[in-house]
Amino acid sequence: MKLRDLTNVPITSFDIIGDIAIVWVPDQYMDKAKDIAQAITKIHKRVRAVYRKNPVEGTYRTRKLELIYGTPGTETITKENGILLKLDVEKVFYSPRMSTDRLNIAKKIKPFEHVLVPFAGVGPYALLIAKMEPTAKVVGIELNPVAVSYFKENIKLNKLSNVTAIEGDASKEMKNWRRWADRIIMPIPMYAEHFLKDIREAVGKKCYIYVYLFVDSKNPLEEGKKKIEQSLGMKFLITDYRKLRSYSKDIDEYVFEVFTSEDFSPKEPLRKAFIEWLKTGKGEKPNIEYKIWTPDQDLWDLKRTSDFVLGIDHYKEGLDYVISKELAKKRGII
Ligand SMILES: C[S@@+](CC[C@H](N)C(=O)[O-])C[C@H]1O[C@@H](n2cnc3c(N)ncnc32)[C@H](O)[C@@H]1O
Repeated sequence: MKLRDLTNVPITSFDIIGDIAIVWVPDQYMDKAKDIAQAITKIHKRVRAVYRKNPVEGTYRTRKLELIYGTPGTETITKENGILLKLDVEKVFYSPRMSTDRLNIAKKIKPFEHVLVPFAGVGPYALLIAKMEPTAKVVGIELNPVAVSYFKENIKLNKLSNVTAIEGDASKEMKNWRRWADRIIMPIPMYAEHFLKDIREAVGKKCYIYVYLFVDSKNPLEEGKKKIEQSLGMKFLITDYRKLRSYSKDIDEYVFEVFTSEDFSPKEPLRKAFIEWLKTGKGEKPNIEYKIWTPDQDLWDLKRTSDFVLGIDHYKEGLDYVISKELAKKRGII
């Protein structure tokens, strides 16, 4: 049974989030709002409240809701791709329309990858990835304290131990995740260009960044590439891209999979020069910030706080270079 058949009003789309339905009712149909709401509850028997939505606004991307019908209360629990998500539909951003995108991305994650979600909301990307790839380490950062509190609760609800929720401004938090990420997911199309330059610090040796952007529907790839080029400031390749939705007549939302690597980074020549100097001792010691790793230290903590991590006698995957104790003494490193 379709909503249109029940109401004779040309409203076809609405969202079901747990036991809440959210629908956009234009002003001219407000006298029919209750009929529309009742029709929705006929189609979806679980729905206890129907709210009229307003556009998303502000930094937290939340929207004001008006109760049209049913029992008030904006908190609910929904299930998406097998993940339970508790949230308040008015106090946090959440869209069930992105569930297919989340599954597409989660399927790409490889064992043991480090995944950063700088605009995590209540955790729909982070939690699904953590569940589908239990060996991955997932970190979500979110500014809205209410969303973070639900995100933390959702980690427990889904009994996951490989995901961490951090409250903070993603731009400022990046310094704590320097060179850490194998994947970065940036579901913030409105401000993507503003934030792209900030996430550079977190880009690991080889990293895929998922950039959500509003682009001209006629030239999505060209325009996406241009916008990323202007704001990322690193060399990159677009390895995949998909349309997510039509935003307006000429504008669509796309997700671009952007591959970048430390090999493309401006610091890489300095790292290479340092390795060369370690090997040969020729010329001046390159002016690079380095740390020496010992097996009792967390390698990633060191990577987060320096541009080069050196192993002496001990090898571990992820180190920038390893030399013998004898050579380290000769070069005056220890
Ligand atoms: C479009 S929503 C996406 C939320 C979530 N990833 C999802 O798909 O449901 C963008 C999120 O970024 C958060 N946000 C905005 N500015 C932020 C910042 N500077 N640092 C961290 N999070 C931020 C908002 O509060 C919002 O929850």
